Amino acid sequence: MPAPPESAFYLTTPLFYVNARPHLGHAYSTIVADTMVRFQRQQGREACFLTGTDEHGQKIQRAAEAAGVSPQQFADGVAQAFRSEWDRLGLDYRYFIRTTEPRHAAAVVDIFQRLQRNGAVYKGSYSGPYCVSDELFVGEGAEVGAPCPLCGRPTERVTEENYYFRLSAFQRPLLDHYRKHPHFIRPETRRNEVIAFVEAGLRDVSISRTSIHWGIPIPGDERHVLYVWFDALIGYLSGIGYGSPRAEDQANWQRLWPAWHLVGKEIVRFHCVYWPAFLMAAGLPLPHGIVAHGWLLFDQEKMSKSVGNVVQAEPIRQVLGADPLRHFLLREVSFGQDGNFSYDALLERYNADLANGWGNLASRTLTMIQRYRQGVVPAEAPAEGAPSVGIAVEEFRTRMAAWDFSRGLAEVWHLIGDMDRYLAAEKPWALEDQPERLDRVLRHAFLALRATAVLLASALPASAQRLWEQLGFATPVGEIKFGDFRWDEVPAGHRIGTFEALFPRRDKEKTVEELRQLEAAPAAPAAPAAAAEPKIAIDDFAKVDLRVGQVVTAERIPGADRLLKLTVDIGAEVRQIVAGIALAYDPATLPGRKVVIVANLAPRKLRGLESNGMIVAAAVGDAGTPVLVSVPEDTPNGARLR
Ligand code: MSP
Repeated sequence: MPAPPESAFYLTTPLFYVNARPHLGHAYSTIVADTMVRFQRQQGREACFLTGTDEHGQKIQRAAEAAGVSPQQFADGVAQAFRSEWDRLGLDYRYFIRTTEPRHAAAVVDIFQRLQRNGAVYKGSYSGPYCVSDELFVGEGAEVGAPCPLCGRPTERVTEENYYFRLSAFQRPLLDHYRKHPHFIRPETRRNEVIAFVEAGLRDVSISRTSIHWGIPIPGDERHVLYVWFDALIGYLSGIGYGSPRAEDQANWQRLWPAWHLVGKEIVRFHCVYWPAFLMAAGLPLPHGIVAHGWLLFDQEKMSKSVGNVVQAEPIRQVLGADPLRHFLLREVSFGQDGNFSYDALLERYNADLANGWGNLASRTLTMIQRYRQGVVPAEAPAEGAPSVGIAVEEFRTRMAAWDFSRGLAEVWHLIGDMDRYLAAEKPWALEDQPERLDRVLRHAFLALRATAVLLASALPASAQRLWEQLGFATPVGEIKFGDFRWDEVPAGHRIGTFEALFPRRDKEKTVEELRQLEAAPAAPAAPAAAAEPKIAIDDFAKVDLRVGQVVTAERIPGADRLLKLTVDIGAEVRQIVAGIALAYDPATLPGRKVVIVANLAPRKLRGLESNGMIVAAAVGDAGTPVLVSVPEDTPNGARLR
């Protein structure tokens, strides 16, 4: 259920375990979150999302041991891989929390102490079958070695004296809450499962471990570290400022909380039972709701590292771009259900919906306005009987607000199909001797095409923006609010921009082959050590003034595809810097982001703009794709790197 319009829309993705590198399953959740947040912004709400990484627990400790590095080193590498993946895909998260950050530990300790004060935890002992992979004790009655109900792997005996959380005391309050808030858990099937589970009775749960050390120690009893799920869920709060001593952080979490949580269906119980109970016990407001999506399958099995059937997003992004991947995931998968991924289906959607559908409508419309009206949109009102933009907008909005992305997109494609038929029936190319009628048809085609750009700005942001510019507009299309937008008006004499194919048609077999080869290619080798380079003295290094900065504004530079104009706050001043990162970063994602800059570089001019410093980025792969160097969000602007 939508919250009152004035409240902020704060959404979270799960915090992903760092035992596996990001794959399409993780990307699915994060793309859905990104789309929903962009959609909510277009409805006029402040909207943002948090993502991050879940870095403690046995699973990570073992993965690090296997790799021969410390758990922290291991986590650092994978957390960065997640961040870079989301950056490359242009996903606009505002918050990224790592559960190994000190600000997170502070929040976890604070909540644990609240629970202690409120009498919700006690010490007890337990022995039973435990699944290391899912980090959970398998319920009573199960034998050691019995398969884990979540992943099917054999359980191991674990005996521990632990801190327990009085979950049993929350059965009634939870059931009352579910009843009072019928949309607390979506979809309905998940809600019914959770209610049945809670009605069957709740047992207290252990929230600490002594068998491992890779976790947040309990203050005053450091032999115990907190259970990884207790620790991780609190990331939804610590990531927006909970637990920070700074007044502005406190104000921030209080303004954004409660959240909406987007999760995969296998972690519904943690989010719908444990988490609300922890929050109740801590005296904190419960989330607005938990929305569960299904699994992305490959060859009919859940895509996962352990099954070994994962597909990476990166080859698809390189070959087709991020938007065709987003389109496939949002359009093909019925939200809430499992959906199958295949390269064939991806290419079919690409050619049918994007190249022949949307792209072709854009090409026909813009070419005709250019050819028959020298690029100026006619002022004549559209003819009656033309497909209705208004209905498409309303249908789209209703579907998207209900998280029904595939039907939302289908509404836009209805409009596109209707427009194709309308143009085929009106034959504008045969109307040159009926100028008024031609004006009406062209104007309507323009309005409908422009509407598709506004509607698709949340699902396919980069392509919608490109089309928007081709339609002759300069402002970001994502900032258009549905409510204020005059769908049927165009400024008099409006001139379209330059047309360029949005989605060139692809040969299916060849492209699938190209994707398979990239997928099979080993990950880029680590950069060779700088052994061959001559050594420098520390004084040489000290000459380079590296500073932490924060991007204030970021915009494209007309006519310079690779460059972005940035202003960066480096503590003492705000600098203008021109950076060659436009192919890798969407400028909309940069404001607020921490970067590292070379602050004492002599100023120079690029495309007539003064650049006062340089942003530090790693050059990745053969193409040298820039990946911005980052520092934790709470590092002050102006801090020097040495
Ligand atoms: N660390 C816990 C979550 C803690 S939240 C406080 C975790 N991590 S995970 O790395 O296993 O990520 C699980 C989530 O990744 C799923 O809930 C889902 O959002 C996403 N997915 C991982 N594989 C997926 C598919 N094959 N299909 C769809 N989503 C998938 O659980």
